[in-house]
Amino acid sequence: MKLIIINGPNLNLLGKREPEIYGSKTFEDYFRELKLQFNKVELSYFQSNIEGEIIDKLHEVGFNYDGIILNAAAYTHTSVGIGDAIKGIEVPVVEVHISNIHAREDFRQHSYISPNAKGVLFGFGLKGYNLAIQSFF
Ligand code: DQA
Repeated sequence: MKLIIINGPNLNLLGKREPEIYGSKTFEDYFRELKLQFNKVELSYFQSNIEGEIIDKLHEVGFNYDGIILNAAAYTHTSVGIGDAIKGIEVPVVEVHISNIHAREDFRQHSYISPNAKGVLFGFGLKGYNLAIQSFF
């Protein structure tokens, strides 16, 4: 099974960024753990702070992978373009958020990803990515 995790803006700062919300582990360390745990899965990882690069990556993997795990971060709440990209591809997308976005500010209550996602996981910390991988079994 071929899965990719795509992380959006500022998630490269995990471990340093608002640790009280996002925890103190870097995504690189967590990704290493995921690779060990799911060693039968062909698992890759892409992060970008640039909306168009995320759209390009969705187009690139969106017809030949088994699943996409997407944390579009702040673009979740603003990007019609990423929402449209998900509509335009064939591979199912599971939306993940580390924090419980519905317990936070009003502007985080709307997602352009959710209407087009296979499922949504939020509020479980980094474990949400693990649960998202399991959802493809
Ligand atoms: C986030 C939640 C978003 O609202 C925020 O902009 C992020 C991270 C999360 O994983 O909890 O950058 O997607």
